[in-house]
Amino acid sequence: PPATDPHTPRGGVRSPARAAITAPHLRTDRWWLAPAATVAGLLAFVVYSTWRAFANTHYYAAPYVSPFYSPCLAENCVPMRAGPNIALFGSWWAISPAIIILLFPLGFRLTCYYYRKAYYRGFWASPPACAVAEPHRRYTGETRFPLILQNLHRYFFYAALLVAGVLTYDTVLAFRDQDYRWGHMGLGTVVFLVNIVLIWAYTLSCHSCRHIVGGKLKHFSRHPVRYRFWQFVSRLNARHMELAWASLFSVALADFYVFLVASGAFDDPRFF
Ligand code: FES
Repeated sequence: PPATDPHTPRGGVRSPARAAITAPHLRTDRWWLAPAATVAGLLAFVVYSTWRAFANTHYYAAPYVSPFYSPCLAENCVPMRAGPNIALFGSWWAISPAIIILLFPLGFRLTCYYYRKAYYRGFWASPPACAVAEPHRRYTGETRFPLILQNLHRYFFYAALLVAGVLTYDTVLAFRDQDYRWGHMGLGTVVFLVNIVLIWAYTLSCHSCRHIVGGKLKHFSRHPVRYRFWQFVSRLNARHMELAWASLFSVALADFYVFLVASGAFDDPRFF
């Protein structure tokens, strides 16, 4: 088959049309550092979030509800007076209610353009870095199952908007004290505020969002509002990677804060 056929085992860097360089690559810098750091960071989050999602405990400490468990949609949710909690799943649902909603933020992040780059490089070495050949002999990109499902990203974006809306609601409710009186603020409120700002910044910096607000237009001049919004999203989009990591860390931190307060390991300091 011709060397340009992406499905040929002789394609890619081993194609006869490429220079015959025997060295695996010619990079002399520490190119492996970034994929190694990515693997460490993502693995740490996966381990932590799996433990917390299945723990099914210590996810509510009035007035805070963990972002991993909101909205709480099962009958077995602990009684809460915060967050949108509707028992859509009856008594037959016996495992952690976090599992019900996990699919949406997980799907959004798994199919995110930045995270794809991160885990394709870090976990699959496909390729591990620029100018470092990948070990796989075949390359089909995202044209086949299961990677073709990455195209669902734009739909996960809409779900992520809903999730961000729910977490915004939870953050508003965090301006109450343990007796649900308004006008109070604790360290947890600050943690939730920082988290929701980062969650929105990450969500709006999404490439799909940028396309939705500014794509398919012939004349920006005829759509001044969309143009302004597109400029705003584009500025965020340039920081998409940083926002992906910052919001991943902040959502874990917000959950861990609730865990500490709910388990009695820590008292939420109140500022007023
Ligand atoms: Fe990263 Fe959409 S591209 S969230």
